[in-house]
Amino acid sequence: MALHIMNIAVVGTGYVGLVTGTCFAETGNHVTCVDIDAAKVEKLNSGTITIYEPGLEKLFIRNQKEGRLHFTTILKDAVADAEIIFLALPTPPGEVGSADLKYILGVAHDLGKIITDYKVIVDKSTVPVGTAAKVHQAIAENYKGAFAVVSNPEFLREGVAVEDFMKPDRVVIGTSDDRARKLMGDLFAPFVRSGNPVIYMDEHSAELTKYAANAFLAVKISFMNEIARLCEKLGADVDMVRRGIGSDERIGKRFLFPGIGYGGSCFPKDVQALVKSASDVQYDFRILDAVMKVNDAQKTILIPRILDYFKGNLKGKKFAIWGLAFKPNTDDIREAPALYIIDALREAGATVSAFDPEAMNNVKQLLGDNIHFAANQYEALEAADALIIATEWNEFRTPSFDKIGSLLRNKVIFDGRNIFDLAQMEQLGYHYESIGRKTIHSNHGS
Ligand SMILES: NC(=O)c1ccc[n+]([C@@H]2O[C@H](COP(=O)([O-])OP(=O)(O)OC[C@H]3O[C@@H](n4cnc5c(N)ncnc54)[C@H](O)[C@@H]3O)[C@@H](O)[C@H]2O)c1
Repeated sequence: MALHIMNIAVVGTGYVGLVTGTCFAETGNHVTCVDIDAAKVEKLNSGTITIYEPGLEKLFIRNQKEGRLHFTTILKDAVADAEIIFLALPTPPGEVGSADLKYILGVAHDLGKIITDYKVIVDKSTVPVGTAAKVHQAIAENYKGAFAVVSNPEFLREGVAVEDFMKPDRVVIGTSDDRARKLMGDLFAPFVRSGNPVIYMDEHSAELTKYAANAFLAVKISFMNEIARLCEKLGADVDMVRRGIGSDERIGKRFLFPGIGYGGSCFPKDVQALVKSASDVQYDFRILDAVMKVNDAQKTILIPRILDYFKGNLKGKKFAIWGLAFKPNTDDIREAPALYIIDALREAGATVSAFDPEAMNNVKQLLGDNIHFAANQYEALEAADALIIATEWNEFRTPSFDKIGSLLRNKVIFDGRNIFDLAQMEQLGYHYESIGRKTIHSNHGS
């Protein structure tokens, strides 16, 4: 295995870019990360991490101290000595649902004016089929020398991003350039020592692989949410059905948990973008249309139940919400179901008191003082008419039910993540509603 220390540039220092840059530094490379957000770069340069991601801070501090990890706002400085330039830029939905490539192509255009020797430019962002060719074209408008554009989609999961990056299930490298293929293989060699595959393919297949992976996972989630709804109507228990099907290896145990829908910065936009890519080539991706519809409804599935319980009137009622992040172990609130629930509750005249271990600052920036941010999970409950669970953080799983019961005005819980045991809820006298399982009725009225 011919390995050498490389100079790497990472353009975009968000969830993917910061993890990518830090992990490449951790394997001994010299990494310069560049971002247009000057405040972010200043913070990073002062040694303060800008996102919450378990395990990242330790690596970030170590590699910065050891001089392998740098941050700048100046693209030219970042890429001057770099052999490989990663683009970890946003690809948000554009007006018609397709991925907006303005950030990627803007930087590609700038790179064309800056680079002076062979570089490997890597699309790490999730981008539609054909983007590598567009990036190539944007650079070639100004730079006439040799260079390569590689598609290397990222499969990390927020919340376990460092682990996923350091020990990926697979690395996908889409390129037709032999020199780039060799450099990328060398760079990733330390990450696949345990034998997980580096899968080389053409650029188009690599680009589509990422969308296919996310779309498939979204199908799995929406499928289980539909099974859960059916369970409620037919008197079955989704936990049992989940275990019953998950032990079939063809189905697998993971990603079968029903809830209040998928969120985050990836699944919603990637499913939408794949549907748009398909329709651009006159293909009607019917399964994904259904997946999006199911998920849209799922995000606020608790609202009609809450309305039912409170006899159609939420005016003046107060709700405690545990969990704001779109999933546990992250501070990311993009497309978080909790935000949709908060909107619906406020629209119906209710007030909200919320707690999340990591995501409150991000929600504060969005909602200001429209809701109350509690100092801890119990303070959120004070004089609330019910507790809603929107994110399954570990610290919510085994709370003091005595405390919950004494702080809430009514012993009522709407659990969007099925974190509590039905028998226990019954024994403790709660009114407890969850997803795809029977409702536990208390004797108390509303
Ligand atoms: N977040 C994830 O879990 C995840 C996982 C896999 C793939 N992806 C994909 O990776 C890409 C990046 O996602 P993210 O979550 O890291 O986004 P992000 O919004 O957290 O980060 C993007 C960063 O790029 C910076 N930026 C914007 N324009 C720039 C420019 N011209 N020059 C330099 N920096 C610029 C922004 O300031 C920001 O810091 C997206 O395509 C996403 O779909 C994300």
